[in-house]
Amino acid sequence: MEDKITERMKDSRLMDNFLANEKILDRISRHLEPIEQMNAYYRCAIMEIETKFKVLSEQFSLKYDRNPIETIKSRLKSQDSILKKMGRKGIPVTLENMEREIDDIAGVRVICSFVEDVYMLADCLLQQDDITLLEKKDYIRYPKDSGYRSLHLIVQVPIFLQNEKRQMKVEVQIRTLAMDLWASQEHKLRYKKSIPEDEEESISNELAECAQILSSVDTRMQALRTKLSESRFQED
Ligand code: GTP
Ligand code: MG
Repeated sequence: MEDKITERMKDSRLMDNFLANEKILDRISRHLEPIEQMNAYYRCAIMEIETKFKVLSEQFSLKYDRNPIETIKSRLKSQDSILKKMGRKGIPVTLENMEREIDDIAGVRVICSFVEDVYMLADCLLQQDDITLLEKKDYIRYPKDSGYRSLHLIVQVPIFLQNEKRQMKVEVQIRTLAMDLWASQEHKLRYKKSIPEDEEESISNELAECAQILSSVDTRMQALRTKLSESRFQED
């Protein structure tokens, strides 16, 4: 008899715990809902920008003998990275602050063949009447000290929901294959690797030198392309 009572008490405690957990889960999920919704908005914005580049890619494939777009890659910044970035910048964590202050939650990277294509694609995007340019950083004309080169655009694009139109921010990075090669390799070499202090300078110098070499390859390839398209133009 006693055993049964103890069992029942245990059961009811389990039930209490279960209900308490349910309440906690409910509270968490109510807090997560707006975050999930915001993530969905950013995913839509990524789709909008991706589609714009895909449309351009279709058109280039049809109209010209070459397509300047090699690949399009997209990513949604993880909640963890967003919180870390807000912490680093001393921004109080609210959804409003996140949307206002963090520009790269939605990211689209376009890899193209030649340096001129980078600027041509940026112009094609920016001349579309639903796109607003918020910020432009030309790390090709003015490379970072690390050697990093790319064209960065922070744009605003509307997404159309059931009953509302919402302007969303997207960071667009446009770069050549050579610029992408450097950025990817440098990221792999540096990311989460603790480089010994006494080697930091020589490694940075070597990486900057590699960036320089790749930049001159880009310049030479661009010159070749210009030369070839001019000679073709003369033949026609
Ligand atoms: P945030 O406020 O953190 O965005 O800093 P920022 O605005 O000064 O940085 P910026 O927008 O100029 O560049 C951020 C992004 O560019 C990064 O997330 C990387 O994707 C890329 N990037 C910038 N510098 C480097 C670099 O030295 N190496 C690599 N591999 N990528 C870089
Ligand atoms: Mg930035």
